Amino acid sequence: MLRTLPAWQALAEHAQSLRPTHLRELFAGNPARFDHFSLRHGKLLLDFSKQRVTEETLARLRQLAQELRLDAWTARLRAGEAINHTEGRAVRHMDLRAGDSAPPEVKAVLSRMAAFCDAIHSGTWRGYSGDCITDVVNLGIGGSDLGPRMVVQALSAQHQLDIKVHFVSNLDGADLASTLAHLNPRTTLFIVASKTFSTLETLTNARTARDWLLAAAGQTAEAVAKHFVAASTNLKATREFGIADENVFEFWDWVGGRFSLWSAIGLPIALAVGYRNFTELLAGAHNLDRHFLEAPAEANLPLTLALLSLWNTDFLNAASHGIFPYSQSLSLFPRYLQQLEMESNGKLYDRAGDPVDVPTCPIIWGEAGTNGQHSFFQLLHQGGQPIPSDFIALGKSDYPLHGHHTALLANCLAQSAALAFGQTAEEASASGIPEHLLPYRTFPGNQPSTTLVLGELTPYTLGQLIALYEHKVFCLSVLWGLNAFDQWGVELGKVLASRLTPVVRGEADDHTLDSSTAGLITHLRQFRMS
Ligand code: F6P
Repeated sequence: MLRTLPAWQALAEHAQSLRPTHLRELFAGNPARFDHFSLRHGKLLLDFSKQRVTEETLARLRQLAQELRLDAWTARLRAGEAINHTEGRAVRHMDLRAGDSAPPEVKAVLSRMAAFCDAIHSGTWRGYSGDCITDVVNLGIGGSDLGPRMVVQALSAQHQLDIKVHFVSNLDGADLASTLAHLNPRTTLFIVASKTFSTLETLTNARTARDWLLAAAGQTAEAVAKHFVAASTNLKATREFGIADENVFEFWDWVGGRFSLWSAIGLPIALAVGYRNFTELLAGAHNLDRHFLEAPAEANLPLTLALLSLWNTDFLNAASHGIFPYSQSLSLFPRYLQQLEMESNGKLYDRAGDPVDVPTCPIIWGEAGTNGQHSFFQLLHQGGQPIPSDFIALGKSDYPLHGHHTALLANCLAQSAALAFGQTAEEASASGIPEHLLPYRTFPGNQPSTTLVLGELTPYTLGQLIALYEHKVFCLSVLWGLNAFDQWGVELGKVLASRLTPVVRGEADDHTLDSSTAGLITHLRQFRMS
C-alpha cells in the first residue's frame, strides 16, 4: 500500500504545506530557481523550475524512489530479467540500440535491414514489372505504427531519398483506400508490421493490399515476394501469408510493441531517412540509456520526469498531462506518447495483484504549438483544473524560414510563463482593463510545466528524446508497482468484436446481447454492410 509508506506520508504532509504557495512566490523566493531546477544532458536541457516543487519536494520524491527499490528494478531491467511477469517475458529494448555491444541476432537483422535499404534506394530491388520501388506502405497499428510514423514525420527534413513512406493503420477501409488511390502497384512495396502477425487491423489491410497488387500483377506468388516484406516475431504466420522467410525482418518477444521502433519495426524509418540516419537514432537512444543507468538520481533526466509526474498526479491531483511540442515536425509525438504512457501505466493492479491505492497514469494528450493555443489553451489558463504540461522546443529550427522560429519560441516561452504566473486583478486593472471585465481578464496561473529544449531535431536527439520518455515510463511503473510491459486491458474489446462481427453482418444472432448493443445492431443492419 503506497499511502501507508512513511515516505509517501511525508510527501503528503509536505504537499499539504506547499499547496498554498504560488509559483510566483517560489520564483520570488529564489532568484536562481532556473539554475537550481534545471538539468542538462548533452544538448538536452530540462527546465522544471516552473513545477510546483522545492528542493525538499525533490529530496522526498527521491527518497520514495529509493524506498521503492527503483535501483533494484533498474538492475533487473538492465540484466534482461523477465520483469514482464504476466507474460513471462524479458524486457530488452535497450539491447536493440546497444551498438557494438548489441546481441548477435540484433546485429544480424540490422545488417539485413541495411542491405534491404540499399537494394531499395539503389533500385536493385525491382517490382514484378521490373520497375523500381517509389512508395512504401507500412501496414501496422499501435506500436507497429505510432513510433515509426512519428519518427518518419519528425525527420522529414532528412528525407533525401526518392522514396515516399506511407502509413496505414485503421481497420476503416478509408485509410487504405485513400492511400492506395495515389499509388501504382508496380512501384509500391508493403511492409506488414506486426509483432504477433495476428492483429485484425493489420491482417485485414494486408490481405486487401495483396488483392490490390494481385489484381494488377496477376495471381503470382512472385509478385507477393517482390512487393511484400514483414517485420514480425511470428515466422509461421508470415509464411502462411505468403511472405518468404528472406523477406521477413525478425524481432523477438522481449521487445514490447510500444518499445519496438528500434527493431525491424523501424524499417520504414530506415527507408525514409536512410539506414545511416536510423543508426544515429539508435545511437541517440543508447546515449540516453547510458545516462539513465549511470547518472545519479539528482542528475537523472528520466527519473526527474517520472518523479514530477508522480508528484503532479498523486499529490497535486492532476488527472491529465499535456504534451506541447513547439515543432510541427514533432506534432505526432503526443499521440505516440499516448500509447507509450497509457498502455504501459494505465493500470489499476500492482505486481502482487492488489489494487494500487493511488491514481496511476494521467491522461496524456497534446498538440503542436502554436496550434493548441488557439483551441484548448483557454481551459489551461482559466478552466480551474490543475493540468501539468511538457513544452518541447528546438533551439534551432529544422525548417528555418525567416522570422518563424524566434516567434515560435517566444510563444512557447510566453505560454509556460502565463500558465505559471498568471495575471492578478491588480495587474489587469493597472494595464487599463475596466472593472467589470476584471474577472474575465484575470489568470490564476500556478499551472506547472516542464520545458525540454533539444538543441536541434536530428536522428540522434530524437533517439534521446524517445528513450527519455521510455525510461520515465519505466520509473513510474516501478513507483506505482505496475508491470509497464503488458496490456491486458485491450483484450476484452477484441474478444467482443470477434463475437459481434457475424452478428453485425447478419450471419448470426446473439440473444444474450444487452439491449443497447442489440438495438444498435438492428439499426445498423438496415444499411448494406461489407
Ligand atoms: O492492441 C494492443 C497491441 O497489442 C499493442 O500493444 C501493439 O503495439 C499493437 O496491438 C499491435 O500489435 P502487433 O504488432 O502484434 O500487430
